[in-house]
Amino acid sequence: MTKRADLSTRLSYALAWIRGQTDLVPAVGVILGSGLSGFADRLEARAAIPYEQIPGFPLSRVAGHPGRLVVGELPAEGGAVPVVAMQGRVHAYEGWSAEDVAFGARVLCGLGVRALLVTNAAGGVNPAYAPGAIVRISDHLNLSGVNPLVGENDDRLGPRFPDMSAPYDPRLAALIDDAARELGLAVPAGVYACLLGPSYETPAEIRMLRALGADLVGMSTVPEVIAARHMGVPVAGLSVVTNHAAGLSRHPLSHEEVGRVAEQARDRLGALVSAFLSRAGR
Ligand code: HPA
Repeated sequence: MTKRADLSTRLSYALAWIRGQTDLVPAVGVILGSGLSGFADRLEARAAIPYEQIPGFPLSRVAGHPGRLVVGELPAEGGAVPVVAMQGRVHAYEGWSAEDVAFGARVLCGLGVRALLVTNAAGGVNPAYAPGAIVRISDHLNLSGVNPLVGENDDRLGPRFPDMSAPYDPRLAALIDDAARELGLAVPAGVYACLLGPSYETPAEIRMLRALGADLVGMSTVPEVIAARHMGVPVAGLSVVTNHAAGLSRHPLSHEEVGRVAEQARDRLGALVSAFLSRAGR
């Protein structure tokens, strides 16, 4: 087992290295999921750092998940907002530990962001959430079987038993709803269930998730949210529904389809993320 005491040291190396690339201090952070990386093009980048250059940063090998940390300014009314964006993330199904999976989120939090936005591509468990829908994550079910806080707790980062009664911050949720209203986008809210993957779910598993109260299903995000809450950073989440979950439509699921539908939501999601970040970074 990794010794938790090593985590702060590993984190401080990564942070020192990133701070050596730019002195821009980000106010808000965003993690861009499968097919959603294009948002970073909206930033006036001060630094775009391939993950492999950052000491200790875990690297993804999944197609469609490029890995770069972009620090830059988001043009906004009333002044540019300093943002740090992760283009791509690693997943537990690649064999990374939950601690590694959450490392990127810890880096964003360690850079001093006041809010973290997590995004992902998800299957629609709620039949009302059709492919292309953007859904605000209101809560989650951690059914992955793992947790990034397992092991010795590093008290410098956060408490042994962090409260999770408001995993997604109500104030940030209201900012997403305001931004959606202003843009004329319908953005309903839903509960995200995180499974380990990498196989997609069976129809019986989707019926189980529905009975448990899930609206969305995916294989990411939750470890990052747990780590951010551990560090006391407020979180907001958005899913792009890329497919009806297994058993709710007749055709089989594919990673290719997930990427394609996420890409189709690019402009709507980009507009929403921009409007949210400019509010949250004020
Ligand atoms: N299941 C799990 N993860 C996913 C799905 C799905 O249907 N769609 C996109 N990511």
